[in-house]
Amino acid sequence: MSFPNTRLRRLRTNPAIRAMVEENSLSPADFIAPLFIVEGNGVKEEIESMPDYFRYSLDRLQPELDELEEVGIRSVLLFVKVPDEKKDNKGTEALNDSGLMQESIRFIKESHPDFFIMTDIALDPYSSYGHDGIVEDGEILNDETVEVLAEMSVSHAKAGADMVAPSDMMDGRIGEIRKALDEAGFSNTGIMAYSAKYASSFYGPFRDALDSAPGFGDKKTYQMNPANLQEALREVEQDIEEGADIVMVKPGMPYLDVVKAVSDKFNIPVSVYNVSGEYAMIKAAAKQGWLNEEETMMESLLAFKRAGADLIATYFAKEAAKIINR
Ligand code: PBG
Repeated sequence: MSFPNTRLRRLRTNPAIRAMVEENSLSPADFIAPLFIVEGNGVKEEIESMPDYFRYSLDRLQPELDELEEVGIRSVLLFVKVPDEKKDNKGTEALNDSGLMQESIRFIKESHPDFFIMTDIALDPYSSYGHDGIVEDGEILNDETVEVLAEMSVSHAKAGADMVAPSDMMDGRIGEIRKALDEAGFSNTGIMAYSAKYASSFYGPFRDALDSAPGFGDKKTYQMNPANLQEALREVEQDIEEGADIVMVKPGMPYLDVVKAVSDKFNIPVSVYNVSGEYAMIKAAAKQGWLNEEETMMESLLAFKRAGADLIATYFAKEAAKIINR
């Protein structure tokens, strides 16, 4: 029955009824908090293009971990910034069992045993070319890179990682990583696949954070064309077949249709990465006084849930959790 029998505004009359008919909501357990870790001591430095977000040396990480735990976030996604002298074409340092990533995993496992530790798997922070794979004659080699990624995953698992998160977009890496983990005795170590990762300009601030911008060219021969949706479904389908436990869509806000399509079609937890550029846009506009930071942040995070995301990797994790809890 339509108007005047039906008045949809009746369900919006006051906060109580609005809360009763709310279809989606956010919880701190939805969030994955990315962490940027650097070598050295006493380092807590703000990332210029990511206001209020910091790189930490391990000795300064503890208070941040405590705060995350306090607000109900137990899942972290680790990235390390590698000094230039440790970078090469093959990402050798990525396989160092005593490298910064491996040390960080051990440190967090020891200080916060309840945390669920996810680690970035890709060569770019370790690559002298700033690419996610091994370079030969200007090309990014697929199969050779996958071998390194599989070894890297085992090294993280050995250090105590709960789940590895390959963000490289090489073909076939999920299957090879699954096989390598199983063979090394880590059948319980999971894989969150960055399945539909687009070649996006929204990663700019992240590359500042890790000093990992590609030295030549772009990432369009491995990351996806922003024009494509059907291809995202093929990527997801393949990753599931190869053994992914969680699939991811990245970036987030400009790709909500992809999140929706993936979550409609597949019965697997879907995560979305609310990337650095999305964070920077809200922070920058808020600092100008042009947007209300808190409201725009919560509105965009909620939109991910509405689109069907189960998990959200976001630099807003801690701030948003505080708001949810109050
Ligand atoms: C690298 C990686 C990137 C991000 C996560 N892992 C950047 C890239 O692919 O160039 C981006 C995250 C962000 O922008 O917040 N494999």
